[in-house]
Amino acid sequence: MIERVMSRKSQSFSLSAYPALRLRRNRTDDWVRRLVAETALGVDDLIWPLFLMDGRNRAEDIASMPGVERMTIDRAVDAAKQAASLGIPALALFPFTETALRTEDGREATNQDNLVCQATRTIKNAVPNIGIMCDVALDPYTSHGHDGLLNEDGEILNDQTIDVLIRQAIVQADAGCDIIAPSDMMDGRIGAIRRALEDAGHKNVKIMAYAAKYASAFYGPFREAIGTSATLKGDKRTYQLDSRNSDEALREVALDIAEGADMVMVKPGMPYLDIIARVKDTFGMPTFAYQVSGEYAMLKAAAQNGWLDGDAVMLESLVAFKRAGCNGIITYFARDAAKALTT
Ligand code: PBG
Repeated sequence: MIERVMSRKSQSFSLSAYPALRLRRNRTDDWVRRLVAETALGVDDLIWPLFLMDGRNRAEDIASMPGVERMTIDRAVDAAKQAASLGIPALALFPFTETALRTEDGREATNQDNLVCQATRTIKNAVPNIGIMCDVALDPYTSHGHDGLLNEDGEILNDQTIDVLIRQAIVQADAGCDIIAPSDMMDGRIGAIRRALEDAGHKNVKIMAYAAKYASAFYGPFREAIGTSATLKGDKRTYQLDSRNSDEALREVALDIAEGADMVMVKPGMPYLDIIARVKDTFGMPTFAYQVSGEYAMLKAAAQNGWLDGDAVMLESLVAFKRAGCNGIITYFARDAAKALTT
């Protein structure tokens, strides 16, 4: 029977082409599309960044990031509770530092009672089951807005910066931070931070390396959010990756893995999907994308103008990261996406 069918078919047409093959068959209905889907986006894939500010029971809009606010710690606790009830696994905390606390050497970064450390302690206390990730870099704390220390010639000092980053990572881990996320792009910092965490007894604190972080104009709105757009002198091209490079990103990732990173990140996200795919294919590591502020702003602005369907492009952009190979995404859409995915 099968033979007869086969031979009749092969007389009339080749099995390897149309009309035997109609790829549209698997797209006819929602149920079959769901059945053959190669990737899935879920709430478990999301990390939600929060911007913190000093004070009580207050929030401020960030003009270039509609729908995103700077908030005081008590409000951040509310946000953490909401995130936990939506099933979002982790938050990433970023501080807006008062101008008076921004110095040439960024010493507020190592203050065990700085805004991020206080927020970490308070949130961990109120919502113990949500993961907390903290940025390690000096830019929210320096008067010049750079991630590292500068000499008189404006050069970013690699090794001296690492000494400060180690102390910053330790105060964050002491405060209860679960994932240390160095975003500074100094050479050798992952290994140095890993050793310091081990020495301090923080053996289970994870490191998510901003391994392939590009010098990008897509960070503009973030710099408004943390207040460095006004202060930043020059650009970050002497430490962040050149957007023309791809092999170099793999070398960065390889080094961070060798130095003890538990997870690696590519940043920005959507303009760098090729890098994400290469990183995942090459290393098979837990791999994350940071869908950065400028990506959020673009989609949001177009949606607000009625030019794009906001929810649809949000979900499509997040699925793209999963397709490229990401385990998860740091995204300002996390809360909205979690709602869209669970209703
Ligand atoms: C700071 C840092 C930046 C971002 C995350 N951590 C900005 C920068 O490097 O200038 C960008 C995040 C975003 O744009 O959403 N080291």
